[in-house]
Amino acid sequence: MLVVFFLVSLAYAFYDNSKNIYELTPKSFDDVIYKTNHTSVVEFYAPWCGYCQQFKSHYIKAAQASSDVAQYAAVNCDLPENKKLCNEYRIEGFPTILVFRPPKWTGKITKKNGHSSEIYRGERTASKLTEFVKGRVKNYVKRVNARDIASFVAVKDKPRVLLLTSKTSISPMFKALAIDFLGSLDFGYLTVTDEIKSEVQKHIEVESLPQIVVIDRDGSFHKYEGPTARTAIAKFLGNFAEAEDGETSERGTFLKGLKKGLYKSYRDFKKSRAGKSKSAKHDKDEL
Ligand SMILES: *[C@@H]1O[C@H](CO)[C@@H](O)[C@H](O)[C@H]1NC(C)=O
Repeated sequence: MLVVFFLVSLAYAFYDNSKNIYELTPKSFDDVIYKTNHTSVVEFYAPWCGYCQQFKSHYIKAAQASSDVAQYAAVNCDLPENKKLCNEYRIEGFPTILVFRPPKWTGKITKKNGHSSEIYRGERTASKLTEFVKGRVKNYVKRVNARDIASFVAVKDKPRVLLLTSKTSISPMFKALAIDFLGSLDFGYLTVTDEIKSEVQKHIEVESLPQIVVIDRDGSFHKYEGPTARTAIAKFLGNFAEAEDGETSERGTFLKGLKKGLYKSYRDFKKSRAGKSKSAKHDKDEL
């Protein structure tokens, strides 16, 4: 009886109940880590390892603090099905934390798995890891200067998102948002200082900072008025373009299902969707 209990406790995954951390297998690893322009953190662990047990709560905290800027995942190297994966990434000690970064997207097709990975060697605390990850988010938000405003807000074939801010740098969350809409929306930020405020006012009505404005194809302005959170803003931006990534996208639906255990891979997800739409069509035919 004792022996059985021991075996069961060894097999359990650390993060099944953590909303923001995906437990990966060889079936889902590439879909989650490589098929995205987001940065990912992966902890390779073994449930019996003391350092892993110590780190667990820190990892959960880090994911809670920054899952809006990067993806968090884990691989249980104790599972027989994961052994190959852990060998492939040359995991020698537990826990090993790898940070994966996609290649910069330039509008051209890049080679598959062009991601770079690096080992996180910093302190194993939530705050240090979070800080590190925030520094590893690719930036697609262009700086807009006072003299560029006119051309940024002009009529164009792609809608644009402009962040008006008092700060001189962009938040990692806003960078992540730009990645969610990579290819479909162009992002810019404008630091509104006292010196350029009147110049900015000639083009855009500035009420308070920070402020997010969408300039649609026809040059019309649409101000965002809601909470400063990635998903809330993404919902608003969804009125102008389709999200490629993030909670409001198809990929977001896949990731949610993966977390719930509904699918094991993106292929599973696609198959189940195709099945559903077929049966929906069938229902209609019968009416
Ligand atoms: C990055 O985003 C672009 C534009 O949406 C897309 O074509 C490309 O496949 C993405 N790259 C990866 C690795 O997912």
